[in-house]
Amino acid sequence: MQSPFTFNNNKLSLSRFPIDKNNPTLQAWDAADEYLINYLNENNLLNKGLKILIFNDAFGALSLSCTQQQVFSVSDSFISQQGLQHNLHVNAQQIALTHHSLTLLNSLDELPQDIDIILYKIPKSKSLLIEQLTKIAANYNDDTLFIAGARAKDIHTSTLKLFEKHLGSTSTSLAVKKARLVFSQIKNKVLTEPLFPTTWPLENTDFVITNHANVFAREQLDLGARFFIQHLPTLKAHDHVIDLGCGNGVIGLSLLAQQKTIVQDSIQLDFIDESYMAVVSAKTNIENNLPTLKAQCNFSWNDCLTNKKDDSADVILCNPPFHQQYAVTDHIAWQMFTGSHRVLKKGGELRIIGNRQLGYHTKLAKIFSKVELIASNKKFVIIKAFK
Ligand SMILES: C[S@@+](CC[C@H](N)C(=O)[O-])C[C@H]1O[C@@H](n2cnc3c(N)ncnc32)[C@H](O)[C@@H]1O
Repeated sequence: MQSPFTFNNNKLSLSRFPIDKNNPTLQAWDAADEYLINYLNENNLLNKGLKILIFNDAFGALSLSCTQQQVFSVSDSFISQQGLQHNLHVNAQQIALTHHSLTLLNSLDELPQDIDIILYKIPKSKSLLIEQLTKIAANYNDDTLFIAGARAKDIHTSTLKLFEKHLGSTSTSLAVKKARLVFSQIKNKVLTEPLFPTTWPLENTDFVITNHANVFAREQLDLGARFFIQHLPTLKAHDHVIDLGCGNGVIGLSLLAQQKTIVQDSIQLDFIDESYMAVVSAKTNIENNLPTLKAQCNFSWNDCLTNKKDDSADVILCNPPFHQQYAVTDHIAWQMFTGSHRVLKKGGELRIIGNRQLGYHTKLAKIFSKVELIASNKKFVIIKAFK
C-alpha cells in the first residue's frame, strides 16, 4: 500500500496510470511535487484563489493540491491527463474542491493569460524543456511567480543555464528529500525563435519529416526504425493497419509509400500515440508527404489500444517504448502486445522491432499462436506474431 500525498492537512490517494498495468511499487508523485506544494503552503499561496499554470504534472499531485485555485494543467501525455482525471474523481469527496476549477491543456495549446504562479515540473526531454521555456518567456513577465521542481540529480548546471537564458535570473533551493526547486524571474528575458518543430529528410525518399519537441527521434531517423522500414509487410487490399506508438509516423508513412498504388488506395491506417506532439507530427507528415492518402489515415491520442474494437485490425506495427516518464518499465510494451492480440482479427499480424536483450520473442509467445523471427542485426530483432 502506498502512502498518500499529504499537504495542508489533506491527504490525496494518487495512482499512476493505467492503474492495473503498472508496477504497484512505483509512486504517482515524487519529492519535487511535495516540495513545490509545501513551498506554496509555507508562503501562504495555496489558499488564495490565484490563477496557477502547471506544466508536466505526472498524475495530478500538483493540480489536485491547489484546491482553492483556478488551475490550468499543461501536458503532452494522454496517460498523465487520464491519470489526473482518474485521481480527481477518486479524491473529489475527500478534499474540499470548493473553488477548484481545472482546465486541461495539451502541449500545443495557446497558454492562458494573467497567470499568477507557474509550477513547472522539469521534464525528462531537454527539447520539451526548451520549447516550454520559450513559450513561457513569450507569454509572461515578472508579474508571474515561476517555480520549477525536479529530483536534484536531474537539475544540472546546463539545465539552470537554460532557465537563465530563456527566462532570466535563476536561483535554486536547498535539496529536500533529494529534490530541489528552481526560481526564475521572468525578466530581462531574451526572446528566441522556437527551435521546434525540427525537420529532416527521410533517407532514400523525397519525404521531409517534421517533429515537434517531445517526439521520439526528433533529430534523425531512429536506428531501430531504419531497420524496421526495411522489413515491413506487404498489405492486401482493404487491410486495416495500426501504427502503434507512431511517434512522427515514419513507420506508417514508409509502409504506405512501399505498397503498390492499387493497395495504397484501399488501406485504412490508424496512427496512435500517447504524446500529443507525436500525433500532430504524424498527421503533418502524412499531409505533407502523401497528401492523397490523408483521407485514409486516422490520428489519435490514446493509451495503447484503449477502446479500440476487438477483432478489427489486420496488421499492427510497433516499435515499443521502454520507459514511462523517468521510470524504466516494460509494462507499456506488454500492454501493447496484449492489446494488439485483442484488436487483431483472427490470423492478423503484429510486427514489432525491439532491442535483442528485451526478450520480446518470449513475451509474444505467451500470447500469440505463432511467433517468427523475421530479421536481426547486432542490436535489434524484428518479430512477427499471428493471432
Ligand atoms: C520507440 S518510440 C517509436 C516511435 C516511432 N514509431 C518510431 O519508430 O520512430 C515509442 C513511441 O510509443 C509512444 N508511447 C509510449 N507509451 C504509449 C502508450 N501507452 N500508448 C501509445 N503510445 C505510447 C511514445 O510516445 C513513442 O512515440
